[in-house]
Amino acid sequence: MIVLGVESSCDETAVALVENGRKIISNVVSSQEKLHAQYFGVVPELASRAHLENINYVFEKALRGAGFGVEPGELKKVGAISVTAGPGLMGSLLLGWTFARTAAYIYGKPLVPVNHLEGHIFSAMLENMELKPPFLALVVSGGHTELALVYGYGRYKVLGRTRDDAAGEAFDKVAKLLGLTYPGGPVIEKLAREGNPTGVNFTRPYMWENWDFSFSGIKTAAVYFVRDREKAILKNNNLKKDICASFQSAVVDTLVDKTLSAAKKFRMGKVVVCGGVAANGFLRENFIKKGGDLGIEVFIPSRGLCTDNAAMIASVGYYKLKMGKNSIAGLDNRYPNPNLEIKNW
Ligand code: KG4
Ligand code: ZN
Repeated sequence: MIVLGVESSCDETAVALVENGRKIISNVVSSQEKLHAQYFGVVPELASRAHLENINYVFEKALRGAGFGVEPGELKKVGAISVTAGPGLMGSLLLGWTFARTAAYIYGKPLVPVNHLEGHIFSAMLENMELKPPFLALVVSGGHTELALVYGYGRYKVLGRTRDDAAGEAFDKVAKLLGLTYPGGPVIEKLAREGNPTGVNFTRPYMWENWDFSFSGIKTAAVYFVRDREKAILKNNNLKKDICASFQSAVVDTLVDKTLSAAKKFRMGKVVVCGGVAANGFLRENFIKKGGDLGIEVFIPSRGLCTDNAAMIASVGYYKLKMGKNSIAGLDNRYPNPNLEIKNW
């Protein structure tokens, strides 16, 4: 069965068609990065307006990419529509939700609400046919840092999450501090390649007493470091590169070491790393290398499936439907929910 997925939780408007939960037939993502870059972060009001402007185009492009048109008869092979129901920005979620609900009504398809974080968790399965739960998942994005044991579709135990900034948010804030562009992750990664990762001593916030994360300390350390050397940084581009490399290295060490420790503790031989920050090359290399040393297999989606997309939403929608879960027809006031948690279903 083909499921059409709709994603609009933050600043990407996305529609995808996926067959039997695994095979991507069409995957269209329209990013608003340029729109928000001047504000160094996503402006919710602008994001919802941009979703409204883009959604029809993205929907039609995704259908055409799969060889279908937009007339009702053309969607015979589409068995259901799934849509991100949260977490995310309320205005953005509402746009995709209303669009998907209207489409489900017009085309006569069941509507399946999907948790955005579940989408990220299972995005690795779109490219790894052999990958099956149980595994440990680390979701690292602009809004989330969550560590969860995944026993199956709809069966999770959240071990920890960030107590303050999400990992991606810390990248974005440090980039802003250094006068770089938004989103911060890719530009910090680029400069870090030419910097010295031991140039600045940032303490790794391991907090070994639990499985939570905290990145605001590293961010504050970066603020003080930059404040005390503002002129030197302006003159010396190498210092900027060292800050990027050292910051990236501190965040990556924390994420990798803590996640792999949890995998050992809970005897998980497989780890999935997903979300926008998983696009970071240094993080990917470290996870694969350190995981390999411990005999832990690490699965990371290709970069395009790390950042927000609708293929992951269509995939989870298929499995939810197959398990007889959460197909809704009419109004449902539980969704969208900007604070939706990963829960068992
Ligand atoms: O998953 P995502 O596309 O959107 C959310 O659901 O938040 O993640 C976006 C986040 C941004 O904070 C961005 O700076 C970060 O992912 N990111 C990266 C890289 N590419 C994107 N962080 C570090 N290195 C990267 N290469
Ligand atoms: Zn995301």
